Amino acid sequence: MKCAVVGPGALGCLLAASLGSVCDQPVWLVDHNEERAQLLRQQGVVVEKGGRSERFAVRATADPAQVGFADLVLFCVKSTAVATTLNHIRPMMAEKSLLLAFQNGISHLEELKAFGLPGAWAVAVTAMGATLLGPGRVRFGGSGLTRLGWVGAGCGKSAFGLQGAADLLARTGMAVRVEPEILSHVWNKLLVNVGINGLTALYQCPNGGLLAHPEALARMRAAVEEAAMVARAQGIAITADPVALTMEVCKATSANISSMLQDVRKGRATEISAINGAVVAIAKDLGISVPANERILAEIKSLEISYLPYFP
Ligand code: PAF
Repeated sequence: MKCAVVGPGALGCLLAASLGSVCDQPVWLVDHNEERAQLLRQQGVVVEKGGRSERFAVRATADPAQVGFADLVLFCVKSTAVATTLNHIRPMMAEKSLLLAFQNGISHLEELKAFGLPGAWAVAVTAMGATLLGPGRVRFGGSGLTRLGWVGAGCGKSAFGLQGAADLLARTGMAVRVEPEILSHVWNKLLVNVGINGLTALYQCPNGGLLAHPEALARMRAAVEEAAMVARAQGIAITADPVALTMEVCKATSANISSMLQDVRKGRATEISAINGAVVAIAKDLGISVPANERILAEIKSLEISYLPYFP
């Protein structure tokens, strides 16, 4: 069985290293950057865990044609890169292939539906923690549950099957579960990201800092409550108290620098469109007012304008 991980970020590197230890063939790690792929080929992926570091060999490449058809593709690119990367990895996808999409937010669901992959695709929602320390160097940050699920019809069929993928991932030591109602979990995670990511980037604070800042906390509550209203209006069964859940995550990850604050600090495009932006777009279709999310979206967009290059 051929496995490939797409995207050498923190999660992608961790998954490539973990899968490599249980697969009978070396795992491919697909990058869009040939220079970095070469480095990963030479050095492998180094995982720091519990004060020890271990090196795992990977077959890194920037050329998906070199991989050929893959049975299992773990798709770990940022939500901002979904459409371009799906095009890039088309040569790896056959009818028998299964792609698991690990993105934050919800915009990737529509993109995957619209793309029409030759194989099947399913969604993965993970609470596993990982921090990228440098190219191919990752710190394991905790083994939270990973949930897998089909998102309605139109996901295609795979010879491998979702339970087969779950069993394989579980052999790496991950906690994995196949869920019949994955959208509930996608939205529960989205609600947390709606409340934390944009605001930590605006207030320039670690996740726990939001709880200590009355204005940020009030904005978090408002944004999460609005997004919960949007979820419920679509009939999605979300957690009973999403604000409490968001505050719990802030506490549990209080020293973490959110992925969005990391993006802003590194001058990269953020995932705001897939998170608060997606809530604003769905709310508009449903005729629901979401001013707290609109404000976070607008403020992050103007922050991005201050550092992203402008291509007319
Ligand atoms: O995107 C992130 O950084 C994470 O999903 C979370 C939960 C906000 C923790 O930092």
